Amino acid sequence: MTHPFPTARPRRLRRSPAMRRLVAETRLHAADLVLPMFVKEGLDEPAPIASMPGVVQHSMDSLRRAAVEAAEAGVGGLMLFGVPAVRDAVGSCATDPDGILNAGLRALVEEVGDAVVVMSDLCLDEFTDHGHCGVLTADGTVDNDATLTRYADMALAQAETGAHLLGLSGMMDGQTAAVRATLDGAGHTDVAILAYSAKYASSFYGPFRDAVDSALQGDRRTYQMDAGNRREGLREATLDLAEGADVVMVKPAMSYLDVLSDVAADSPVPVAAYQVSGELAMIEAAAAQGWIDRRRAIEESLLGIRRAGADITLTYWATEVAGWLR
Ligand code: PBG
Repeated sequence: MTHPFPTARPRRLRRSPAMRRLVAETRLHAADLVLPMFVKEGLDEPAPIASMPGVVQHSMDSLRRAAVEAAEAGVGGLMLFGVPAVRDAVGSCATDPDGILNAGLRALVEEVGDAVVVMSDLCLDEFTDHGHCGVLTADGTVDNDATLTRYADMALAQAETGAHLLGLSGMMDGQTAAVRATLDGAGHTDVAILAYSAKYASSFYGPFRDAVDSALQGDRRTYQMDAGNRREGLREATLDLAEGADVVMVKPAMSYLDVLSDVAADSPVPVAAYQVSGELAMIEAAAAQGWIDRRRAIEESLLGIRRAGADITLTYWATEVAGWLR
């Protein structure tokens, strides 16, 4: 009794490491990776973030050192978040030219601005005492259009620091158009916009709240998207493109690869994905238990994000991975 030989043998291309390397469809590149960083006002030494192993809140000095390290490893960009000492209802620190985020951006531009793209987080949640991404009406809801005015002022302050790409992460309607018009009106036509287009209300941001010492009251479900909505992700990206986004982003990454794939298939501009704090925490926690191989899990997660269509990936492992790729 003999059986037919397989007519197709895909295993031929998996025989050796050299063959597998030759036929790899997707690869990681350091230049596509962006390192998110936190700088905290008043710190003398970097402070570890318990729920984000390996990630710290930087002092101004350690921020500079880590930026140089990332640039030397070949990382493509740095995305800065500021943690202020004092918060208020309108997030005043965000528009203060000497506020922690703007001071940090100036330091990054000065330190590595020729070698990597310096990116800002443009959102109010780190700066408001209520923790929301915008300003509130008297009854406590987030006021979309009043928030746009704050974002426009924030964009001007950030552009003045020399930042190259502003990351609009607040999910207010019309924020891309408002910021673009404001930048252009002030002569900052060269400052680019990365729109967090499809940003979902996600449990995976949990550790980030520790990173920015946020004391959010309530949740963000009136402005961030519902996890079940795929079509709406594409709609948000389409709106941001029409409003002038230079790069569009999907966030988080790993639970939203279908949305990323949809946006990438449709987008005439580069597409970014943000592997967020909870995605880091899951892999680090499981690896610390010895339940998964840390390096392989990190590489696999980043390959999956790239395979789904990300041109650019924000990941807290950017510098380390860039080192592996050398
Ligand atoms: C908002 C912002 C958040 C993150 C990036 N920008 C928090 C939120 O929307 O609740 C989360 C990033 C992460 O979890 O790594 N400024």
